[in-house]
Amino acid sequence: MNDMNKAKLDYYIELVEEQLKKFTASKPELQGEVVKAMEYSLLAGGKRLRPILVMEFARMCGEKKPEKYIAAACSVELIHTYSLIHDDLPCMDNDDYRRGKPSCHKAFGEDIALLAGDALNSMAFEVISDAAMAGDIPPERAIMLVSVLSKAIGSDGMIGGQVIDLKTEGKDIDLETLNVLQTCKTGALIEAACVMGAVLAGSFEAIPFAADYAKALGRAFQIVDDILDVTGTFDELGKPIGSDEEQHKNTYVTLLGLERSQSIAKQLTVEALGHLRYFEEHEFLSQLTEELLTRRS
Ligand code: IPE
Ligand code: IPE
Ligand code: MG
Ligand code: MG
Ligand code: MG
Repeated sequence: MNDMNKAKLDYYIELVEEQLKKFTASKPELQGEVVKAMEYSLLAGGKRLRPILVMEFARMCGEKKPEKYIAAACSVELIHTYSLIHDDLPCMDNDDYRRGKPSCHKAFGEDIALLAGDALNSMAFEVISDAAMAGDIPPERAIMLVSVLSKAIGSDGMIGGQVIDLKTEGKDIDLETLNVLQTCKTGALIEAACVMGAVLAGSFEAIPFAADYAKALGRAFQIVDDILDVTGTFDELGKPIGSDEEQHKNTYVTLLGLERSQSIAKQLTVEALGHLRYFEEHEFLSQLTEELLTRRS
């Protein structure tokens, strides 16, 4: 990534971090424990890919100041963090580390971790509707955001994918089933982020192009996640390595092996880059998309 785009990436990340801090700034005494757990997981780092996609799509769709949508953009990071807290629970992937720190349930207990995830889920919709009530987003666009996001994370989207992921552990599945699993569990939220950017900019005609890009990126992203579970290190990833094998997960690596997985991720990245050509100023996102293929974290 060139220096200008690196500076832009850092700027976006800083905006996201600042906004996330604001979400959990107040800590009333009795409910304090759950707020601490939400803050712990939200501010533990992470690539912040999804809110960056929201802002960048808003910008590519003609919004001069995508920063003004930072709260709504961060709704997808709230959802993502909730999904990670629940994903690590002993009844799910049973992973003890996340983003380089003990998982939420290791730090706060399973009960509080479960509730922190739930509270982050509802907060996502609170921040979108609050932005509309404050006049920062036209109300009809806010309703579209809620519609896009809620569909993406329900039983036809992220939760559906997580269910297939859990229920096929240790079982032989075909590539088609694996694609549904990954498209739902990871692709749906990434697609929602990209589409939400277009919606925020009021560029409804761009939605199918944003969605096509996101579908390819989402698949490449999860395949790389599967590869890193085998080839990464704990220091790089901040989460346990070999977790998929331990939980007998079906992944691209277990079905097709490392080499073919790498070549499919590359193919999907090329496809994603092709879809970006619809957008005039796509250089930043093109570079970011390429970097995600060779990421080490
Ligand atoms: C990890 O997501 C879980 C998947 C959906 C593959 P990320 O790789 O985006 O995790 P963070 O946000 O950077 O920690
Ligand atoms: C997580 O997929 C997907 C969601 C949280 C929705 P993984 O289980 O592969 O993610 P990691 O590897 O634990 O980050
Ligand atoms: Mg999982
Ligand atoms: Mg997991
Ligand atoms: Mg994984």
